Amino acid sequence: MKFFLDTADVKSIQKWAETGLVDGVTTNPTHLSKEGGDPKKKIKEIISILPKGDVSVEVTEQKPEAVYKQALAIAKISKNISVKIPCHIDYYPVIGKLAKEGVSINVTLVFTAIQAAMMARLGVHYVSPFIGRLEDIDVDGMQLLPEMREIFDLYGFKTEILAASLRSVLHVRDAMLAGADVLTLPIALFEKMVQHPLTDRGIEMFNADWKKLGVKQFP
Ligand code: G3P
Repeated sequence: MKFFLDTADVKSIQKWAETGLVDGVTTNPTHLSKEGGDPKKKIKEIISILPKGDVSVEVTEQKPEAVYKQALAIAKISKNISVKIPCHIDYYPVIGKLAKEGVSINVTLVFTAIQAAMMARLGVHYVSPFIGRLEDIDVDGMQLLPEMREIFDLYGFKTEILAASLRSVLHVRDAMLAGADVLTLPIALFEKMVQHPLTDRGIEMFNADWKKLGVKQFP
């Protein structure tokens, strides 16, 4: 199981990378636009924080031929980049071609297990189902993950399931139970996951009780 951070916020990535739990980062045009500045520079900064991590960078071109060229240019920035391409029929030939050429592709905006299976057939590295966005339209997004897991295992697909658009700690638990290979987490959700009020309270209580003993040095 791997954890990615779903952000382009360099300071937060730096901070949470120290936990040793961050295996990569997923960016998208929204995240990069929010941070401002030169997106290529930002990507390089992220890679310098996680030199062995996997960093997803999304294409911004629209026409398939331009997407193909841009994907190659993005992949050239660093060997640990996965290129995000939307799961749209117009891009299927390009996705298959790039996958065959050895480019690590993360197919984004996946909303059905069938889309995911088709992308696995094309040999992509990751498929990213957007759980929260399905729930936004009252569809059971989480149901997708066990379906995808079952199909991938049944057919021996090596494509990794990257659970995206996760919004809550319960989503995280359910994605883990469903066997997602990667969970990409917004910073606020990662912060929630790594803390528990009862752990904090327990530490305070142990400290208070220990002080009562009056021992200066232990052991
Ligand atoms: O990685 C996908 C993610 O950025 C989308 O999340 O919460 O905008 O649906 P959200």
